[in-house]
Amino acid sequence: MPTLVIAGSQWGDEGKGKIVHFLGNRADVVVRYQGGPNAGHTIILGDKPFVLHTLPSGIVLPGKICVISNGVVIDPEILRSEVCALNIPVKNRLLISESAHIILPYHRQMDERRERSKIRLGTTLRGIGPAYADKVVRIGVRVVDFLSPATFRKLLDINVREKKAWGQKRDILKKYQQWRRFLYPFAADTVLFLNRAIARGKKIIFESAQGTLLDLDFGTYPYVTSSNPVSGGVCTGAGVPPTAIDYILGVMKAYTTRVGDGPFPTEIRGSLAAQLREAGMEYGATTGRPRRCGWIDIVSIKHSIMVNGFNSLALTKLDCLQGIHPLKICVAYVHKGKRITRFPASREVISECKPVYIELPGFNKPLCITRGRSIMPRNANLYVKTLEKLLGIKISLLSSGRTREETFVLDKRVLNFGKYPA
Ligand code: IMP
Repeated sequence: MPTLVIAGSQWGDEGKGKIVHFLGNRADVVVRYQGGPNAGHTIILGDKPFVLHTLPSGIVLPGKICVISNGVVIDPEILRSEVCALNIPVKNRLLISESAHIILPYHRQMDERRERSKIRLGTTLRGIGPAYADKVVRIGVRVVDFLSPATFRKLLDINVREKKAWGQKRDILKKYQQWRRFLYPFAADTVLFLNRAIARGKKIIFESAQGTLLDLDFGTYPYVTSSNPVSGGVCTGAGVPPTAIDYILGVMKAYTTRVGDGPFPTEIRGSLAAQLREAGMEYGATTGRPRRCGWIDIVSIKHSIMVNGFNSLALTKLDCLQGIHPLKICVAYVHKGKRITRFPASREVISECKPVYIELPGFNKPLCITRGRSIMPRNANLYVKTLEKLLGIKISLLSSGRTREETFVLDKRVLNFGKYPA
């Protein structure tokens, strides 16, 4: 120990990559525990943006060991391109779980086919759902199976027959050796590695992709991803017991965004949404799609706090609200005339919910976050304090801008992953 989980409290794109980058210097190991190349974590190094899809954000920090654990689904072609494009040495510091599942071209094809049908969800078309489905029905190809040519051929035959994707077999086999050679040096028993690292007192960050409201079990089903981004996902996604988790940090954007289809009670339409989208550069890092923008939603974030057990929150992108008057915060929903404060499971109910807002005055001056909360515009401070009060949880990190330098620590415990003194 100590170990820190960093998870998203909304529909993803909360700025987790930047927070992992900020705290990553204090860690020995950074782990991605779920999801796949549907994620897009943007990190600014110098003045250069890097978009990471499968690699943990810690990969840009020299000397840090990075783990892609068993809960992740890996597209070997995308991962290979990502490692090449990054141009940073990863030898001896990237470990890939032997039990992680492989995404193959037929998964992407199935994803695309489904998206063209009546059950469209607005996925990233990266084959994520079909790859996790194969894992669950037990015909998936794990890294360890992929590395054994005989086992892989057998599994490939079963899969192309089952999926009626015979046409893809030749193309997959053509690329197979190249993918295998690439993955081979990184494959490891990451469960053993992580549990030994914990026993030796190494500092570990578990980094989630997506967010709680996209969680397969706790999100707005069926408009969710196919994995568990919640903090509990670390246990099954990395093979680490719940007793080994010390601190759970939730990342929360000062407003809300969502990509893809599905209910979004606080969605803003028109010019204000466009203003927020431009201020926050709210375009999907993986697909380039414009993100839907809305006001912050206390009902859904309270649900996230409950299921994740966050110890504190990192508030990101407060600067993007500069110049917006008034600022609205959704404190409840109204459904068929009844006020509700519980996040509804029913897809009909949530899509019919109307938000109840409180309004706060906006701020015009820039935040200057690095110089502390006391010199922040008064109304920005009021917004932060109001969120803490409504959510009943401390905001330990304030972040504005894109670089990790623009981060202010309000509670030093988070720097030492919950252990005092920092
Ligand atoms: P999938 O994960 O590609 O199957 O997509 C399912 C839903 O999750 C879609 O609404 C996607 O837009 C959304 N999604 C997946 N990954 C991310 C992400 O990293 N950020 C935001 N939304 C995501």
